[in-house]
Amino acid sequence: MARTVRFHEIGGPEVLRLEDLETGEPGPGEVRIRVDAIGLNRAEALFRRGRYIEQVKQLPSGLGNEAAGVIEAVGPGVAGFEEGQAVSVVPSFSHNDYGVYAERAIVPAGALLPRPDGVDAVSGAAVWMPHLTAYGAMVEVGGMRAGDMAVVTAASSSVGLAAIQTANRVGATPVAVTRTRGKRRRLLEEGAAEVIVSDEEDVPGRLLELTGGRGAEFVFDAVAGPGVLGLARAVAADGTLFLWGAQSGQPTPYPGFDLGMPALNLRTYTMLEITGDPERMRRATAFVTSGLRAGFLRPVVDRLFPLEEIVRAHRHMESNTQFGKIVVTVAH
Ligand SMILES: NC(=O)c1ccc[n+]([C@@H]2O[C@H](COP(=O)([O-])OP(=O)(O)OC[C@H]3O[C@@H](n4cnc5c(N)ncnc54)[C@H](OP(=O)(O)O)[C@@H]3O)[C@@H](O)[C@H]2O)c1
Repeated sequence: MARTVRFHEIGGPEVLRLEDLETGEPGPGEVRIRVDAIGLNRAEALFRRGRYIEQVKQLPSGLGNEAAGVIEAVGPGVAGFEEGQAVSVVPSFSHNDYGVYAERAIVPAGALLPRPDGVDAVSGAAVWMPHLTAYGAMVEVGGMRAGDMAVVTAASSSVGLAAIQTANRVGATPVAVTRTRGKRRRLLEEGAAEVIVSDEEDVPGRLLELTGGRGAEFVFDAVAGPGVLGLARAVAADGTLFLWGAQSGQPTPYPGFDLGMPALNLRTYTMLEITGDPERMRRATAFVTSGLRAGFLRPVVDRLFPLEEIVRAHRHMESNTQFGKIVVTVAH
């Protein structure tokens, strides 16, 4: 039996329950892992509330698709992994099919990456979602280069901080946009070249000022909603506005006719564009692994919670006071 988090109804953090369930044996193409640490993602809070890009297909439902642990059993047809191996589970499957919020979990072998020496379970559960998301949009899809300006909203999120590191890694200039003045100093310490506090400052005005009126080559926006019109005004001609989240929860206007039909590329993106393509995934893994090795990239961990406090951990995520990744640890 393994303690496993499930929810029996759509709702807030309080619907999460810790239950004793049989994990079973891995089927073809699957492995069973002992879960040591779980990386929390906004997608899980949205899924639990029925507001994700994918709806809950059946209740009760499990949750979670990012973790680190050790392989306990390997299913038929799995090559390249063995019992006792330390691995990370990379988000690449539906919450409707698998969930890693548990002491033990069955996951598809295709979602595993070997955990390099020196990467502990907490880091191994915190690094992949943020850095694959950032690398994929910024480098693989966007083609961001040295000298480009990269504007990152929700900058204190785990994805925002990974984007700041990724921009610095390729020589671009990361400009962090946060709602909260209290996060400004830490964002500068984490490598932001400039910080704009959106609750107090005119974001497009400041961006145009910083670029001498040119605008930024890239904006990576996790907020969406009405703020997109202002961000679109601050994109350079032929620049790209990536929408990679929807934190505002509000409808997003199309920044076209009202802005004079600017020469703007507007693109939605999910990291599934990377995890679903073996060649892109190979390059992304190499980028992140080399960044970790050289010390250019690292997960920024906000707080640890034990599995028993999963409800508190989700409440903390929805408080939006975090700075970086929230990780849940599992004692065995
Ligand atoms: N496209 C993809 O493949 C992909 C993958 C992973 C994550 N994401 C998205 O990236 C975003 C960050 O995810 P995460 O899991 O790293 O962290 P998270 O916990 O969702 O990020 C929390 C941060 O978002 C900002 N925020 C929250 N509510 C907001 C609102 N109503 N308006 C403006 N800003 C708000 C705050 O940052 P400040 O205090 O700094 O403003 C807050 O600290 C989410 O939108 C998530 O859905 C997308």
